[in-house]
Amino acid sequence: MTIVAPTVARGIIIRRRAIEHLAEQQDWDAKAVKQMQRLKRKYGPAPLLLPIPFRPQLLLLDPADVSTVLQSSPEPFAAATAEKHAALSHVEPKNVLVSSASRRAELRSAHEQALATAERLHPYSAHFKAVVDAEFLQLLRDIGSNRSAELDWPAFSQAWFRAVRRLVLGERARNDIKLTETLNDLRERANWAFAAPVDRGKLALFHQQVSHYLSDPEKHSLVSRFPKGGEFAPESQVAQWLFAFDAAGIAVMRTLAMLACHVSYWAKAVEEAMSRDLDRPFTRSCLLEVLRLWPTTPVILRQLTEDIKSGGRVIRRGTGVIIFAPFFHRDPEFLYANRMEPSIWGENDALPAAGLVPFSAGPAICPAHNLVPTVASLAVGAFLSAADVVLLQPSLTVDNLPGSLDHFAIRLRLAARRKE
Ligand code: HEM
Repeated sequence: MTIVAPTVARGIIIRRRAIEHLAEQQDWDAKAVKQMQRLKRKYGPAPLLLPIPFRPQLLLLDPADVSTVLQSSPEPFAAATAEKHAALSHVEPKNVLVSSASRRAELRSAHEQALATAERLHPYSAHFKAVVDAEFLQLLRDIGSNRSAELDWPAFSQAWFRAVRRLVLGERARNDIKLTETLNDLRERANWAFAAPVDRGKLALFHQQVSHYLSDPEKHSLVSRFPKGGEFAPESQVAQWLFAFDAAGIAVMRTLAMLACHVSYWAKAVEEAMSRDLDRPFTRSCLLEVLRLWPTTPVILRQLTEDIKSGGRVIRRGTGVIIFAPFFHRDPEFLYANRMEPSIWGENDALPAAGLVPFSAGPAICPAHNLVPTVASLAVGAFLSAADVVLLQPSLTVDNLPGSLDHFAIRLRLAARRKE
């Protein structure tokens, strides 16, 4: 279990700082990819059945199977697996991720409406820009007043979560740090999945804290776009949004780090940041590259709802399916496997036939697959439009990027750019 165990140890629902550091030091991700390459050489590209007692798992080794499985969700490949139930029962027991096929249809449309899944630019994009500009320009001013002028994860994430609370819940939520703390406590428990009992008191507290924003939604908040009426347990849906924005923040920080050490990409991204256009195709592709190189959802899981035939054998209903994204994203057959090549994305945010699925693909694709690149490219642009960025730590070799990049350890120097 060189493959899945490190992902679990780092924290599936919230990242553990010490383990993330260890993963980078020990190169866990690159080792896991190599292990899977060995398995593929030994057993061939057909799905490999891992006979784990009580929980057999099918490990996918061929991108064609990734595409088929993701297209065939939720049946026969259900997104709601036993592992997700165990983890998410702590934080969002009624979330779409763990719902039955019939309930999923109802909940999924609530997410798609609010997050404008099908639209490249969310109708609130101008508002998103105003919010990220305000938060990050303030952060830049604060940093500029320090002698070191350094940006690290603690400073970035505080500003990021202020912006996230404003985008999701409205202006009133800007300083509601308690809400984020309650959610983080629940997420820490969720990391233990089956091994910890649900903290019902804390879950009720979170619901109470969030219901305050749901009952009287503010104009331009994402929650204001939920369908009116209907029983869709909005607290459970919003919990997912708030915690998934953590991953988006990690990707923004990594994108800044990558742009700082790629001069030609930097110039193109600055050009976009200076324009008035809300659509920033190049910066979006840079973000997608960061998510290809270091996927924030490294494991996509499915569970069989019926017996199927695969390679002449019958795979039983209830068997789990594992898509380990780094194996596909870093396929050594790709010339660009370990370097940044934004051009591969074109207009797309998923290339399932090649196994490149940072937001997944098919009917259960992340419903924020357009929203995240929009918000993230605007956030990157807020920095780039005002400052030059130097990567202080870690030191990276751009044509052979490492398998792991610990976002907690990234340090950037920001220098406000003089107006010409
Ligand atoms: C870097 C940021 C993000 C990445 C890489 C990401 C990626 C993913 C992936 C891979 C899945 C699993 C899909 C599957 O099982 O096939 C997922 C599910 C989901 N994501 Fe995201 N996500 C991100 C941020 C967000 C944000 C900010 C939101 C909400 C505002 C969001 C909402 C959801 C929801 C509701 C689901 C469940 C969808 C379903 O089961 O139908 N995600 N995401």
